[in-house]
Amino acid sequence: MEVLVDTCGPLRVRNLLLIYLFVLEAAADCPKPQAIPDKNIVLTNEAILKNDFPEGIDVTLECANGYIKESGSGVINCRDGAWTEPDLTCKKKDCGPPVPKQNESFNISAGTLFGAVIKVICDKGYQISGSSFRQCYATGWVGRSKCEIVTCEMPAEVANGKRLWDSGDEPQYGEKVSYSCDEGYTLEGSSVLTCNENGEYDSQPPECKGVVTESRRTTGIVTSTPTSTSTPTSAPTSTPTSAPTSTLTEGYTAVIISVVASTVVVCVLLALLNKYLLRRKGSANGTVPI
Ligand SMILES: *[C@@H]1O[C@H](CO)[C@@H](O)[C@H](O)[C@H]1NC(C)=O
Ligand SMILES: *[C@@H]1O[C@H](CO)[C@@H](O)[C@H](O)[C@H]1NC(C)=O
Repeated sequence: MEVLVDTCGPLRVRNLLLIYLFVLEAAADCPKPQAIPDKNIVLTNEAILKNDFPEGIDVTLECANGYIKESGSGVINCRDGAWTEPDLTCKKKDCGPPVPKQNESFNISAGTLFGAVIKVICDKGYQISGSSFRQCYATGWVGRSKCEIVTCEMPAEVANGKRLWDSGDEPQYGEKVSYSCDEGYTLEGSSVLTCNENGEYDSQPPECKGVVTESRRTTGIVTSTPTSTSTPTSAPTSTPTSAPTSTLTEGYTAVIISVVASTVVVCVLLALLNKYLLRRKGSANGTVPI
């Protein structure tokens, strides 16, 4: 019994001392500091990796991604087992107005702060290729696009005519296509088509109307008059144009036909007359022997 008491006494004291020291130490340590989402405050990587935060230690907090320091230092101190209030205030980062590329602009009515979404605007006759928006991220504006010039389809071909335009490729906004007709054809409609901002032509392609038969008839009349006047001066057989020779042969055939016809008529008449005379002669001969 005495031995037990003797040994238990000092043991208890030591245990109590250990417990006291442990409690003291636990009271002195601070818990791991926490981010403050309401204020867009986060821990630094250094603080995240740390596990022991003893009494008196300083930890630095920082602004969340996309936010920048407005005021304060961000340093908090472990005092009597609790962290002091951070004095840090954060505000949204400003991406600033984006730099437009050629024939491009932006509607920044939504602002240029972190998270803002703005619209890409292309000049008249240009269209967006890629994203039609930009968003302000912590790293800056995100979204790729460019304004490309509007093009029209290849201009329609026209029968008996030609198309002509500068690029030779698909005509672009504002480009003009000129049409012309082959000789002997007249153009009906617009001779110039312009590619508009919607990728369409401002009018339908023209038509090349054939006036060939009309013109031949007129040239026939025109050439027949000089040949008829030239006939007395020059040799009539040497005329190269087909129209006068055809009229000449037509004249000849008419003469030939009439000559042949009259010859035939004469022959037939002669034959009939001859037959009649022979019959009369025969009957006369017959009557004579009787
Ligand atoms: C497109 O950009 C070019 C080069 O900056 C410019 O010359 C042209 O006028 C612009 N087009 C329009 C429709 O603004
Ligand atoms: C910019 O966008 C706002 C909101 O969408 C709109 O009301 C305004 O008309 C736009 N401005 C231009 C110049 O397009």
